[in-house]
Amino acid sequence: MAKLNLNGLGKKDIEKFYELPKEREKIIRDTSASEIKTNFSINKLAKNLHPKVQYVKVAKIIEENEETKTFVLTPDLETSTKQLARFKPGQYISIEVPIGEAVYRRPYTLSTSPKKVEDNIYTITIRRVPYGKVSNYFLDHVEIGDTFKISAPTGEFYYSPIRDARHIIGIAGGSGITPFMAMAEAINDGTLDCKLTILYGVKSKSDIIYRERLEEITSKTDKVKLAYVMVVDDDTEFASSFIDRELLDKYIEEENSFFVCGPVSIYERMNEVLKEYNLPIKYIRHDAFMSEMEIYKEEEYNVKIVTHNEEINIKCNGKETLLAAMEKNGVIAPSRCHVGTCGFCRSKLISGKVKTFNDTLRIADREYNYIHPCSSYPESDVVLKLPK
Ligand code: FES
Repeated sequence: MAKLNLNGLGKKDIEKFYELPKEREKIIRDTSASEIKTNFSINKLAKNLHPKVQYVKVAKIIEENEETKTFVLTPDLETSTKQLARFKPGQYISIEVPIGEAVYRRPYTLSTSPKKVEDNIYTITIRRVPYGKVSNYFLDHVEIGDTFKISAPTGEFYYSPIRDARHIIGIAGGSGITPFMAMAEAINDGTLDCKLTILYGVKSKSDIIYRERLEEITSKTDKVKLAYVMVVDDDTEFASSFIDRELLDKYIEEENSFFVCGPVSIYERMNEVLKEYNLPIKYIRHDAFMSEMEIYKEEEYNVKIVTHNEEINIKCNGKETLLAAMEKNGVIAPSRCHVGTCGFCRSKLISGKVKTFNDTLRIADREYNYIHPCSSYPESDVVLKLPK
């Protein structure tokens, strides 16, 4: 056993130290076996701030453009949810959506300032994506009055003054603008104290979401700046290129944190560009999302799912994640972020080969064959053991 360094302590201090375990044993012995009271006001406050689940109702639907809608959510007062939980701009909720026999869970970023929680409002913005089961269901079928079960707000994609530089360069691809919309509103209404420059990459002008809201904010505060980057339209009103070092150099300040949000393709591209700055890793944050379109493999594989009490055999197409296949087949697997970052779905790959995107696994996990099924696509038949 390692020797304690007791330098500087008197004999009495040492005696007291050795008495501690005995005192602790006595406290444990004397403690009542009845359940601990948890109805103190501090417990109620903690429950309101961090509820496990919340129940919401669609109160309003706003058409942002032909392929995108914003859904305004308020508490479903028929349930235990009377007040929506607070969040930090950039966080997301996971929403549970029953479609047919299956139940899908998808993360959507909260796209307004946290100040709106005072009015009991969340908003999520959803864009149509090819093969996007849940996104397309929302756009085509969800109506005012529909109710959903959602998680508490979660995720690490938010500004933290002790970790991030005070100037954020927000690099958004398509609907990856949502966290920056929340941040811009929060800076404008004073709930967030930092500076934000948004480089908003879209294919063409008609793809821009929140144009009016963003431009109104930039006209009111010089803490938020905005530049559009078109990759298809050659429009002189906007920078017409990809986001590269030359463009970034125009906007960087003395110290910058880079927040990247968009499809995996923009995330991979920006990783390459940002390498050139040799930044400490903490100054680059990302929130990538995957669409089935990015993986083109039509083969179908056999997947055996091993849970704590049964084995289930399903098929998984090479262009869908293992988690998506499980959801489709009614297998309930833990999940939250759906992009390989929260760790909720971490499972053991017993056999088979998978291709993984946005891999945030620890080295030890990789060594012992753990994967995130939410961001793993099969490349052979697979046997997967789910967490309990
Ligand atoms: S659901 Fe978050 S890592 Fe898979």
